[in-house]
Amino acid sequence: EDVMEYNNLKVEIKDSVALLTVSRPKVLNALNSEVLKELECAFYELENNSDVKVVVVTGDCEKAFVAGADIKEMANMNAIEAESFAKKGHALIRFVRNMSKPVIAAVNGYALGGGFELALACDIIYASKNAKFGFPEVTLGIMPGFGGTQNLVRVCGEKIANELIFTGKMIDAQKAKEIGAVVEVFEDKEMLINSVMETANKIASNGPIGVAYAKKAILTGVNLPLSEALDLEASLFGILFSTEDQKEGMKAFVEKRKAEFKGK
Ligand code: HXC
Repeated sequence: EDVMEYNNLKVEIKDSVALLTVSRPKVLNALNSEVLKELECAFYELENNSDVKVVVVTGDCEKAFVAGADIKEMANMNAIEAESFAKKGHALIRFVRNMSKPVIAAVNGYALGGGFELALACDIIYASKNAKFGFPEVTLGIMPGFGGTQNLVRVCGEKIANELIFTGKMIDAQKAKEIGAVVEVFEDKEMLINSVMETANKIASNGPIGVAYAKKAILTGVNLPLSEALDLEASLFGILFSTEDQKEGMKAFVEKRKAEFKGK
């Protein structure tokens, strides 16, 4: 595979699924400017790699998914630099949200601050039992800045978002599931990764344009009035009937065989 090299990331591609591992284990995978830049490059590369249908993001550390933005890098920032740093994070999460391919977070250990924000930018979050989520920013005299104040409220509502962000407290995987942030909790990291890969492969076997348009309809529709959102759904639904995949999917059903989708 012709995969790029990164200082703080590992990218493995197997059967249409890319496993993207944030790897800065000495600092629990904390996100500095370099990691943010590399993540943006890696997602860009994977979005444009036609062999890849689904991306799984995880952390290369038994203790952490990502323990936040790099506090040592942020410590000496002035206001202008801090705003620009937040915007680098926004560029990354916007890119992930706008990707045509589903992105799944597999969270083992700490997903704090910018790490929770990276997970929230993904389309689905799965966790192992030892996962811990939280926004400790207020304990540092700051606030979430990689989209946390916007994405958490959209996931679990204002009151729960307020409590988590104002207290800075951590919640475990089960609680994160109760508030709707995590979809399923697994016993340990191995079971988490195996199950997530299985789900990713299941998604990868479906019609990729259908999946991409469903993602677009869900994400865009949430910010539109219902009648406009339904119009968007109808348009995207209609466009799918000009694809080969729709013909193949329905033909395969009639012929009682598995569909072979080409993404065309
Ligand atoms: C820089 C970090 C880090 C971080 C951990 N480390 N988190 N370095 N930035 N976010 C480093 C520690 O300094 C330490 O390095 C090493 O990783 C191991 O961490 P320990 O603290 O020794 O581990 P432990 O005692 O097990 O505690 C784990 C922890 C704690 C509870 C996760 O590390 C922690 O509280 N980290 C900070 C979490 C946080 O506040 N995140 C939000 C950041 S703000 P040394 O060199 O000492 O061995 C943010 C803003 C996003 O994310 C928006 C920006 C615009």
